[in-house]
Amino acid sequence: MARLITALLSFLLLTLASASTVQFEIVQNRDVRTAQLQRRSLVLQRRFLDRRAGTVTAALTNAEVQGLYAANITIGTPPQSFGVQIDTGSSDLWVPSDAACAVTTQLQNGCPNGQFVSSASSTFQDVGQGDFNISYVDGTGSTGDYFQDTMRIGSATLTNFEMGLATATTIGTGIMGIGYNTSEANVDTGNGTEYANMPLAMVNQGVINSAAYSLWLNDLQATSGNVLFGGIDTAKYNGELISINVYSTGRSRRVTSFTVAWTSLSATSSSGTDVLTASNFAEPAILDSGTTITLLPDEICTKLFSELGASINNQLGAVIVPCDLAKNTGTINYAFGGPGGPTIKVQMSQLVLPLTTTTGQVPTYQNGQTVCQLGIQPAGQLPTLFGDTFLRSAYVVYDLENNQIALAQTNFDAKNSNIVSFASKGAPIPSATQASNELAVTQTASGNPRVGGATAAGTDAAATSNPTATGLNAASGFKTSAAQSVQPFAWSKVVVLAVSVTFMGVGGLLL
Ligand SMILES: *[C@@H]1O[C@H](CO)[C@@H](O)[C@H](O)[C@H]1NC(C)=O
Ligand SMILES: *[C@@H]1O[C@H](CO)[C@@H](O)[C@H](O)[C@H]1NC(C)=O
Ligand SMILES: *[C@@H]1O[C@H](CO)[C@@H](O)[C@H](O)[C@H]1NC(C)=O
Ligand SMILES: *[C@@H]1O[C@H](CO)[C@@H](O)[C@H](O)[C@H]1NC(C)=O
Repeated sequence: MARLITALLSFLLLTLASASTVQFEIVQNRDVRTAQLQRRSLVLQRRFLDRRAGTVTAALTNAEVQGLYAANITIGTPPQSFGVQIDTGSSDLWVPSDAACAVTTQLQNGCPNGQFVSSASSTFQDVGQGDFNISYVDGTGSTGDYFQDTMRIGSATLTNFEMGLATATTIGTGIMGIGYNTSEANVDTGNGTEYANMPLAMVNQGVINSAAYSLWLNDLQATSGNVLFGGIDTAKYNGELISINVYSTGRSRRVTSFTVAWTSLSATSSSGTDVLTASNFAEPAILDSGTTITLLPDEICTKLFSELGASINNQLGAVIVPCDLAKNTGTINYAFGGPGGPTIKVQMSQLVLPLTTTTGQVPTYQNGQTVCQLGIQPAGQLPTLFGDTFLRSAYVVYDLENNQIALAQTNFDAKNSNIVSFASKGAPIPSATQASNELAVTQTASGNPRVGGATAAGTDAAATSNPTATGLNAASGFKTSAAQSVQPFAWSKVVVLAVSVTFMGVGGLLL
């Protein structure tokens, strides 16, 4: 489910918003995707390791709003270095081979974050020639072999660890998928078997006690966050850590993604609070760190956008808001698992993303205010998906052993650390309490989550307006001075790079 990028989303928005401009944008967005993939690779940071018994911490680099959290790893003997993008929405760790990187027609920038030379590693073993074949929702992908070799991340060393070696790829930087083994590419497009991917291999090799990790992405303005395997860090969140169930997907009845029961959305500003979902609302939502933005059901977006003064702009292919909205003190509040479950508040500063065009223009409204992008878009036919514009505001513990997710309000810029490891394999999430009377959701056979088959009474409601809501009380508190039309550009020359411009701010990494 990972790696939905702006290009794809822009296309979806356009089809929702106006059929007449679709073709124009599809072509341009393909270019955008290429541009973004190049930029994807430019961000790396030194990993740093906080070592505690039974836990491994690797620092992640926040590629600003692009949703690229990268980690450094090494593979082979002697070690070859890689920067890889962390992704909870997929389950294979793969790196590009030197042969794949030589094909410059596919990869305009080559592979700046490492390419694996298998012949240079004395511990390399090919275990699945031609078996590796992964594709992501945005249409990118890689094919090649499965291999085993020594892999190091943070303080951990895994021997005979199984990975994908991309001998052909449209992505120049490797990806570290840390999801369920049921979602490994090998299951669907390889030889049909599961293998011990990173969380499981860490358990098998005694590095951590239980297949679980915590992600602290930190805020939009920060340059790094971290992933902690095998434990939680109680200094990185505020309030209570509450756990909820992870649900199975589709026909298989197997848990393949981090699908949780999302049970309400509200908006709070200085002028009031509005609940934007019906009282019996419960819908599956996927938590996916590989995705930059958040996709919500169309009808909920309509209400939310009226609250925030956001609008869908066809030409920009984005949901736009005045940049000043980032300074507003209001919040969007997401609740999970019903009344006893966790609520995460997302501040405007985490939702308002910069927007620019390939011609270097920053769009403005007619009153001169700059135009920004909202980090929430209508899902259309795609599943409801909570990407980094939600996840940064939450401290999230992923417990693959017990199919649990624990959520708490994140502690932005926390300087301290208090790491508690999982006591044993299958032990509950340390310090977390279970949500009481949790509402349940299931996904449809098509794999597109829809409400249905709920086990709790009244949970099969579609996302309709709250029948008791008489108006949008919070809307006036979100008001900024803009809300006018956007200054026209010479559209034919403009390709929207959406959020990627902020790379320029990341230490001049942008080539
Ligand atoms: C991680 O990658 C970056 C970029 O290549 C590099 O500068 C840094 O030294 C690496 N850190 C480690 C610990 O390998
Ligand atoms: C393919 O299947 C065999 C068992 O049938 C297994 O030993 C092997 O590891 C599998 N290959 C991969 C890449 O998982
Ligand atoms: C990878 O899998 C896709 C989908 O099953 C298939 O269409 C494609 O031909 C495969 N590619 C290779 C190189 O096996
Ligand atoms: C796949 O994951 C399940 C659940 O965590 C585990 O029981 C199983 O052993 C794993 N399979 C492999 C091959 O590691």
